Amino acid sequence: MRFKLAPSVLAADFAYLADQVAAVAPHADHLHVDVMDGHFVPPITIGPVVVKALRKITDLPLECHLMVTEPERQVEQFAEAGGDSAVWHIESPPDPRPVLQLVRKLGMRAGLAINPETPFETAIPYLEEIDVLNVMTVNPGWAGQAFLADMLPKIAEARAHIDKAALDIDISVDGGVNVETGRRCLDAGANVLGAATAIFGKPDPTAAAAELKQMLSERER
Ligand code: DX5
Ligand code: ZN
Repeated sequence: MRFKLAPSVLAADFAYLADQVAAVAPHADHLHVDVMDGHFVPPITIGPVVVKALRKITDLPLECHLMVTEPERQVEQFAEAGGDSAVWHIESPPDPRPVLQLVRKLGMRAGLAINPETPFETAIPYLEEIDVLNVMTVNPGWAGQAFLADMLPKIAEARAHIDKAALDIDISVDGGVNVETGRRCLDAGANVLGAATAIFGKPDPTAAAAELKQMLSERER
């Protein structure tokens, strides 16, 4: 299994986005881009124009986390902008399958995110068709929230199910992840750590990313 670090640019200084990305790139496996539409979650954040700008300055895969009410209307724009994967919420469309088919047609990796109140079971019918299960460890909407430790059993449940079914799916965690909470997520069975504040909120984002990546690399052995 590969253990991956996904810095989330949500907590980066957007006036210096290229510099911020360059600072963490040596330790990043992909970049996590938090797209919020003001409906699915209250804030509005990043859209395809920023993905397009990022595409020009980095070769890292760009994971678009779509916290939007109608992902099927948005996903094509993110593919055209250079997004490599789309992660949308199981709580969002009436049926995730048409979105899944569209994401595949666009040649992107597909992921489903599940909110804290959504049980793991909800994702089971789609597991054979996705590449990533993103277990939200905060309620979506903002960087800098406290990690919800109640999500650890859900991560363990997902890992047990995915391993038993011999599925090749990344389990990523998103929200409140730092060295301490990230370690607990890895112990529970996650293999991808997403982190915004624990990287870009630090005075030295390079060192912060390196520390998280080191912890991940140790799991590979
Ligand atoms: C929350 C976003 C997260 C967020 C994480 O809605 O999906 O990706 O950027 O921020 P931190 O790591 O600060 O909790
Ligand atoms: Zn996210």
